[in-house]
Amino acid sequence: MKRTLASLDPAALEGRRALVRVDFNCPIADGRVTDDLRIRAALPTIRYLRDRGARVVLLSHLGRPKGGPNPKYSMEPVVRALEGLLGSPVTFLPDPTSADAVATTRHMPRGGIAVAENTRFYPGEESNDPALAERFAALGDFYVNDAFGSAHRAHASTEGVARLLKPAVSGFLMEKELEYLGQALARPKRPFVAVMGGAKISGKIDLIEALFPSVDSILIGGAMACTFFKAMGLEVGNSLVEDDRVEMAAALLARAGAKLVLPAGAVVAQKLDGAAETRTVPRDAIPAGWAMFDIDPASEREFAARITAAGTVIWNGPMGVFETPPFDHGTLAVAEAMARATDAGAVTVVGGGDSAAAVAAAGLADRMTHVSTGGGASLEFLEGKVLPGVSALDES
Ligand code: 3PG
Repeated sequence: MKRTLASLDPAALEGRRALVRVDFNCPIADGRVTDDLRIRAALPTIRYLRDRGARVVLLSHLGRPKGGPNPKYSMEPVVRALEGLLGSPVTFLPDPTSADAVATTRHMPRGGIAVAENTRFYPGEESNDPALAERFAALGDFYVNDAFGSAHRAHASTEGVARLLKPAVSGFLMEKELEYLGQALARPKRPFVAVMGGAKISGKIDLIEALFPSVDSILIGGAMACTFFKAMGLEVGNSLVEDDRVEMAAALLARAGAKLVLPAGAVVAQKLDGAAETRTVPRDAIPAGWAMFDIDPASEREFAARITAAGTVIWNGPMGVFETPPFDHGTLAVAEAMARATDAGAVTVVGGGDSAAAVAAAGLADRMTHVSTGGGASLEFLEGKVLPGVSALDES
């Protein structure tokens, strides 16, 4: 167990500078944050520190700027979004590695909040350069990591600084993510059902392997189902198949028996176009020249029945090309079934990335037990990998 923010004496926070790594890697368009989910998710930690008189200094990366500062990836739009959510001004630190930035953090009012410029504008961030970590460490008197979404990265602002600035504790979002994802794996209420989707089996194989011993069934959707179909000797037309993974899929099928549940049929089209003619076909009748873009209604019903009867459901990856209706139908059906399962008392956990986006688009996020803010991080955590940003924190 890692030491948490709640373990620090609340009375001793006043006037101290809390250096908080958050994951404000939000989508930006025309200089505005278009989805503030990750900012809102960090508010409990920020407000807790602010309300106890700490000086709150927030560090985050945004996007993947290569080769130094790039205005396109500036944190300034995030500063404005955070001001809107908090209803109070937020200071911007244009160069968190400068002596000026350190002075600003010391002179901020109690309860004041600052956001530093993108950590990835500094070359040592991704190489976890100790010199950069030391500069970041100078911005705080203690360290809080609330950036679950970045915890799989061993960067200066996630890992290096946690080794230098003590105490180094987890924030409330980090704690919640680790608790829900960890609890689902360690003590699942049964039946324990995993729903896996997405284009490629190669991106999910480690997750399937990790969950395999503990789940009661794994429901497979998305184009990755076609690699399994091919391994079963079925024709898949123009569907996306990873030819170099067919053997792996065959081996998994042989081992899995009834645990692995594949779609009984597919919604196919000749091209990926929402206006294209579609057909619903059994999985052994995908016509030449057509490709699977969604699971069929019979599979939706079967998956929904298994999900609503489950005690624990973990979902990672869409059932079809959900960005292009009508191929979003299977994905929405899974989201709705999960919401019903939650109502019936199941623990429902949505891995981040596409599945979280689909749940949000369906307006069902509030009806899940937990929607992770981490894409790659939730995948790696569920795969049983060590997250460097977590392991660097103090033990409780
Ligand atoms: C994410 O969006 O998954 C995290 O913010 C990590 O971003 P990265 O994949 O660019 O490291």
